[in-house]
Amino acid sequence: MSVRRLAPADVQPKEFSFSKENAAWANVQVAKYPAGRQQSAIIPLLWRAQEQAGGWLPEAAIRHVAEFLSMAHIRALEVATFYTMFNLEPVGKFHVQLCGTTPCVLRGAEGLKKVCRDKIGEPGHVTGDGKFSWVEVECLGACVNAPMVQINADYFEDLTAESFTQVLDAFAAGKTPKPGPQTDRQLSAPVGGPTTLTDPSLYPTSTRLG
Ligand code: FES
Repeated sequence: MSVRRLAPADVQPKEFSFSKENAAWANVQVAKYPAGRQQSAIIPLLWRAQEQAGGWLPEAAIRHVAEFLSMAHIRALEVATFYTMFNLEPVGKFHVQLCGTTPCVLRGAEGLKKVCRDKIGEPGHVTGDGKFSWVEVECLGACVNAPMVQINADYFEDLTAESFTQVLDAFAAGKTPKPGPQTDRQLSAPVGGPTTLTDPSLYPTSTRLG
């Protein structure tokens, strides 16, 4: 995990405030918590601020959320800099979060990293056409389908350098590649098909109790 810093001042917008719709939505989130505990809504509010800001969190947005929740700016900054789901610098239209934790590394994440470097550039760099950026993140909780990446809201799993390249090329061509395993595997079922309960006589469909 690399140090996460705010974007340089020259790319930071001077101001940010929730749109009318987002402010109304944020008030609904805050109302879910007991009186005096409104700060518990910080993660959804930062997330909504990131969406409104175009996929990343300017410093002004973090400050706005802190003020919205009547909390110290530094507390909101701590949350925003801790979670890699919050992008502190501008990102591409398709932002790749590449899992670089041990199970994914053992299954080929280094090869995926090379694809990112070759096709996108260094981590944090946005391609000239504004389409792609990537970062390495810690475990995304899909180790059983390692190696994997998250692109915007979707997981792409059981990747090889070749299939990952195809996914990126599809996005670049304006297509929407199918998320999930990039093999014929069914979700996280065993590779090659079921290995247990393979005898149909164990569960006859005509058997009913009572
Ligand atoms: S180690 Fe990559 S998803 Fe868990």
